Amino acid sequence: MLKFVSNKGGGKPVDIETAILNGYAPDGGLYVPEQLPQLSFEQLEQWKNLSYKELAFELLSLFIDSSIVSAQDLKTIIAKAYGTFEKEEVIPIPKLKSRKNAYIMELFYGSTLSFKDIGLAFLVNLVDFFLKRKQKRLSIIVATTGDTGPAAANYIAGKSTLDAWVLYPKGMITEEQERQMTTLHHDNVHPVGVYNCPEGGDDLDAVIKQLYANQTFKEKVNLSSVNSINWGRIMVQTVHYFYGYFQIADKIGEEINMAVPSGGFGNLCAGGLARKMGLPVKTLIIANNKNACLNRIFKDGVFSMAPIHETVSSAIDILVPINFWRFLYFCVGKDAQKIKEWMEEFDKNRVVHFDEASFKSYKKGFLSGSVSDEQTMKVIKEVFEEEGYLLDPHAAVSLAVAHSLREEIGDAKIIFFATAHPAKFSKIIQKALGCESLPKAALHPSIERAKWQCQKGYTAEQAHLEAALLDAMENHWERNLK
Ligand SMILES: Cc1ncc(COP(=O)(O)O)c(C=O)c1O
Repeated sequence: MLKFVSNKGGGKPVDIETAILNGYAPDGGLYVPEQLPQLSFEQLEQWKNLSYKELAFELLSLFIDSSIVSAQDLKTIIAKAYGTFEKEEVIPIPKLKSRKNAYIMELFYGSTLSFKDIGLAFLVNLVDFFLKRKQKRLSIIVATTGDTGPAAANYIAGKSTLDAWVLYPKGMITEEQERQMTTLHHDNVHPVGVYNCPEGGDDLDAVIKQLYANQTFKEKVNLSSVNSINWGRIMVQTVHYFYGYFQIADKIGEEINMAVPSGGFGNLCAGGLARKMGLPVKTLIIANNKNACLNRIFKDGVFSMAPIHETVSSAIDILVPINFWRFLYFCVGKDAQKIKEWMEEFDKNRVVHFDEASFKSYKKGFLSGSVSDEQTMKVIKEVFEEEGYLLDPHAAVSLAVAHSLREEIGDAKIIFFATAHPAKFSKIIQKALGCESLPKAALHPSIERAKWQCQKGYTAEQAHLEAALLDAMENHWERNLK
């Protein structure tokens, strides 16, 4: 049976259920599979025509042993997760007319209109399945730069096994995103708007890490996480890389590029691992905005901090791409000791310079770039004027970065990841298009509905966030759930 270990090497190997329910490994590391499944071209050929849900079943079965979740239960969880998606095919991939060999992978047809729905629809239903079987309840805490929070809150809402504590940097996400969390009236959803986060969502991640380190509290409220520190998110995100490739390739082996707007490297960690499993994707393009944390890693070999810039692609205003450590584990011969030293060095000094051999190994097959807001806005306007297709600011970052790297990339087919629906970013769309009224493509009924609904939630100061959460979460647990 495939087991999971910490990328920092601590603790014993665990099964998939434990890895998922724990979130972080006990030593503060990230769970990784002991081996990555390897897929031959023959195997890929057999899967080429599967629907998204069928493919998800095949790929997830490689990680989830049937003695833990039976094939029938896994199929039911997948059907439940993706049954609510707006499009039957789950992820449509239209071709752009105005650009050569360019496709858009529309990852935003889940309930909260971003690619986070792809991971969380499945993960929350899987966690719920495990907890019902164990007759247990968990307090889930997530930090968000705008999209994880709504998705986690939405899929957790009304689940008897879970409580969602959703932290967001007040004023640094869009009003639409905030309302997606605060207009859910279920008693098990608790949005917390946090004032004064100089480093945005990364400030919130730091507090979550502290709460995890507090063993007494952790055990008292059964704390866990569905942020992309959770292996379950990465595992399920490998599926759209395979699916996208199969939809666009004429034959298995064709070289196809993929451009991904990136912040925490959760999405691209899955892409990098999909390639290591045998997906013949050519170049993975890391698209950063001005917060070029991944660009520094992949261009300069340095994992470092810089002051945050607030950009129009706010969901990727991220300084610490935590999932890079998970991917790196597989690029340095699974040397957990090395990963542990680097992660500790980063925690201490906020900078790590990688040695030449490691740098060469992890950057193979990746290109990266970082673009300004002006470049992002220009692409939104251009593509809309050229063919009436409306990109959200994150998808636009992927087009703008690929454009800046066009000579290195060449002209093989390229799939741009559209990770959010433009309706979540109405003010930015208005500015980019220079229009007062929004085009139809920038509207969505769920966003319109949330505009007139009452909002509920907590607010807190970043400086006191840890104490505030200990108080609120313990109180809630004691009053409602003991
Ligand atoms: C719309 C959107 N695009 C891209 C990303 C970046 O994904 P990742 O953090 O997995 O790199 C996020 C979230 O962080 C997002 O919400």
